[in-house]
Amino acid sequence: MTKANIAIIGGTGFEALLKVTKQIRIGTPHGLPPLISIGKIDRKTVAFLPRHGVNHSVPPHRVNYRANVYALHGIGAKRIAATNAVGTVNVNFKPGDLVVPHDLIDFTRCRQLTFYNETPVTHVDMSQPYCPEIRGLLIEKAKESGVRVWDRAVLVCTEGPRYETPAEIEMFRRLGCDVVGMTGAPEAVLARELEMCYATLCFVSNLAAGMQRRLTASEVVGVAKQKLPIVQQILRETVKHLPKDRHCPCAHALRDARLRG
Ligand code: HPA
Repeated sequence: MTKANIAIIGGTGFEALLKVTKQIRIGTPHGLPPLISIGKIDRKTVAFLPRHGVNHSVPPHRVNYRANVYALHGIGAKRIAATNAVGTVNVNFKPGDLVVPHDLIDFTRCRQLTFYNETPVTHVDMSQPYCPEIRGLLIEKAKESGVRVWDRAVLVCTEGPRYETPAEIEMFRRLGCDVVGMTGAPEAVLARELEMCYATLCFVSNLAAGMQRRLTASEVVGVAKQKLPIVQQILRETVKHLPKDRHCPCAHALRDARLRG
């Protein structure tokens, strides 16, 4: 049985991040995730899961986030480092900047957002939505790479697949959001529900709606392509430097989270 202690969830094209030795298909009670690539970074076995499918065929609102996270948990992954393209809501952030969010607002509407629909009723703590250990390393490695990185940001996740309206972006700005994307939730929550560490390295692909004349998907893809090598390098360095044991609260997320009937 294939095992990988660390997983990366990213867009298509990130497979080059690791020396892929095999690809596996794993069934879950929540459905089928995309093919997962297994490979090595340094001497660590790492799993890579392309969030939108191998050919980028699944739109953000139809990604089976539960199947994806469950499958990674099933192969023994204790930690997930993710990457997301985001638009900036904060006027100080610029396209091309990297962002490691510290907090999350979930504005999705139609997604399966929990593994715990039955008893025991389970409420996981999201006071610190992202793993501090992975965040710290992502920030450190991003700073070492010389790219501009924002080490605190509130990420708002929208349902998509359309981009937002200017009024929505203005609302998000007033709510204190810094960046907007379509895939940050419920991924982070589901990882926490399985006591997995999770943090994300975002890259700003565009100014959000209303901050520029028009917003196109090809613009987002263009910046993603441009940022791919540096994001890969930072993720690789982060994985290399992750200590063997976890020193964060994520591993005990279910402690005191359950109500007994
Ligand atoms: N809005 C939502 N999701 C996004 C954006 C955006 O402006 N850019 C990249 N993903």
